Amino acid sequence: MIELIAVLLLAGVIPNYAQQANYITTGFGSPVSYKDASLTVGRRGPLLLEDTEFIDEMSHFDRERIPERVVHAKGGGAFGYFEVTNDISRYCAAQVFARVGNRTRIAIRFSTVAGESGSADTVRDPRGFAIKFYTQEGNWDLVGNNLPIFFIRDSILFPSFIHSQKRQPSTFLHDGDMQWDFFTSRQEVTHMLLYLFSDRGTPDGFRFMHGFGVNTFKLINATGHHVYCKFHYLSNQGLRNLTAARAQELQAEDPDYAIRDLYNAIRSGNYPSWTLNIQVMTEAQALNSSFNPFDDTKVWPEDVYPLIPVGRLVLNENPTNYFQDIEQMALSPSRMVPGIKPSPDRMLQGRLFSYPDTQRHRLGPNFLQIPVNCPFYVRNYQRDGPMSYSNQGNNTVYHPNSVDSLNVSQRAAALSPAYSVSGGVSKYDNGDDDNFAQARYFYENVLDDEQRDRLLENLANAIATASEDLQRGALEMFTNVSGDLRNRLQALLGLW
Ligand code: HEM
Ligand SMILES: *[C@@H]1O[C@H](CO)[C@@H](O)[C@H](O)[C@H]1NC(C)=O
Ligand SMILES: *[C@@H]1O[C@H](CO)[C@@H](O)[C@H](O)[C@H]1NC(C)=O
Ligand SMILES: *[C@@H]1O[C@H](CO)[C@@H](O)[C@H](O)[C@H]1NC(C)=O
Ligand SMILES: *[C@@H]1O[C@H](CO)[C@@H](O)[C@H](O)[C@H]1NC(C)=O
Ligand SMILES: *[C@@H]1O[C@H](CO)[C@@H](O)[C@H](O)[C@H]1NC(C)=O
Ligand SMILES: *[C@@H]1O[C@H](CO)[C@@H](O)[C@H](O)[C@H]1NC(C)=O
Ligand SMILES: *[C@@H]1O[C@H](CO)[C@@H](O)[C@H](O)[C@H]1NC(C)=O
Repeated sequence: MIELIAVLLLAGVIPNYAQQANYITTGFGSPVSYKDASLTVGRRGPLLLEDTEFIDEMSHFDRERIPERVVHAKGGGAFGYFEVTNDISRYCAAQVFARVGNRTRIAIRFSTVAGESGSADTVRDPRGFAIKFYTQEGNWDLVGNNLPIFFIRDSILFPSFIHSQKRQPSTFLHDGDMQWDFFTSRQEVTHMLLYLFSDRGTPDGFRFMHGFGVNTFKLINATGHHVYCKFHYLSNQGLRNLTAARAQELQAEDPDYAIRDLYNAIRSGNYPSWTLNIQVMTEAQALNSSFNPFDDTKVWPEDVYPLIPVGRLVLNENPTNYFQDIEQMALSPSRMVPGIKPSPDRMLQGRLFSYPDTQRHRLGPNFLQIPVNCPFYVRNYQRDGPMSYSNQGNNTVYHPNSVDSLNVSQRAAALSPAYSVSGGVSKYDNGDDDNFAQARYFYENVLDDEQRDRLLENLANAIATASEDLQRGALEMFTNVSGDLRNRLQALLGLW
């Protein structure tokens, strides 16, 4: 039997993928006898279990939905390219940056964070901005957001943080008390809250916003030296935001506003683009830094760590099959390529585990075989599992062995230099690590008067959804940012 199958395969009789029939079939290819009625006992009688055509159709339908992403469930995406414009080989030897002018195919998925997959695009929320680079040395995912920082700085808090933002389990409603209870209990959130409740929390679609890697990475150059790095990808369309009122109207008028805008722009040949930049910090600068460079609630001041341009990201191709290419896309900060490594950033380290873990659950253990996730080259000893359709043939299934002439890559080894860590192993709570200085700077120096007015109004409206005790707690928290901020919030809330 096995021999027969092998012979048929070689003869091309068993196809790798089904050809499209010009008649209606079941999933197993058998011609359907009648499509628009089920098999019944008489005209008015019950259905029969022997109607395999009905069962084939209905049971597949029953399984059409896959679990939505546990966060970032609503989103849209497109394809395009990354083109290197500047040589950064003194910092990073990744092949994707190797030569000015070289292009790499990319996929980008934009999203909101807290809403379910059918929720509105224009809610106040960070926007996910995640990029997959299909490089010759594997797929590199840069899974960022439109705001440069984050709420928390230890990944163990992420599940609780998200629970506080999603639905309250008994009422199934969003709940101001949960949100402000969490926020006031972890005051490292203040910097991010000021960004979120400013104009930047309601971007005008996906094209008019920047992207940031948020977490700190490590770049390795060809001689094995490293720098730490932040990624910034700045919109060449400029920044545009919706007013809070317009964002709210659009939630009813056009919940898919951002997906539609992106799709239509690309369809009409108006290709959006972003300029990829890096900020770099040497080990010496990191050791001497007044703030923790591995804390994702902090920005790196651009006068000390200037933006260094790298290349251009262009989206010029809409998806033709949303489910296949966008819903099934799996992006993870753990997918790095030689020359790019994680830093000790505690949030990044937690994310390295979480994304592939959820993707094994959401899409199944062979999700990397789905075309949108599939790299150019794979050869390893991973086998089998449900839905395996690219099982590496009759390759050796163990290593080391005396059969393969394969070896690990000398280049990857050279770009993975040893590094030292030290410190007592313990649970160090970092919740009180300089929570307010950068938030104060943002409030006092980054925003102009009108932007500050809108921030205060947005913030007061949100705080007002919590109980009076929590409102007072929020005022206390913002006191440490600025007395002016606190006083004006207090007046808006009418709390004396
Ligand atoms: C420790 C903290 C975090 C954890 C545990 C976490 C976890 C997750 C998980 C489980 C998903 C769903 C992935 C999937 O189903 O494919 C996700 C999606 C996402 N996360 Fe995070 N996240 C964290 C922090 C962040 C931060 C700091 C950023 C910003 C850089 C971020 C940006 C995103 C984006 C953009 C997506 C959507 C990716 C896509 O379009 O498929 N997350 N996150
Ligand atoms: C790597 O970085 C080190 C330290 O900055 C530098 O001396 C060296 O020339 C760099 N190597 C390359 C190939 O650029
Ligand atoms: C640059 O692109 C060309 C053409 O696609 C390719 O042959 C070459 O290997 C690339 N160079 C690098 C360093 O990636
Ligand atoms: C946001 O939009 C408002 C209204 O169009 C505008 O006045 C403001 O400058 C914008 N803010 C930013 C940060 O672009
Ligand atoms: C260390 O930091 C201080 C203050 O932040 C700065 O003045 C000094 O130049 C830094 N030294 C080095 C070696 O970077
Ligand atoms: C495995 O595949 C190779 C070529 O791909 C072939 O030469 C060899 O005979 C195969 N071995 C078995 C046991 O089928
Ligand atoms: C694999 O790499 C190791 C370490 O560099 C080397 O000693 C060995 O000869 C290599 N084997 C092959 C088959 O290239
Ligand atoms: C926050 O403000 C309170 C009241 O003004 C003060 O007692 C406390 O020390 C401040 N905390 C920090 C971390 O600045």
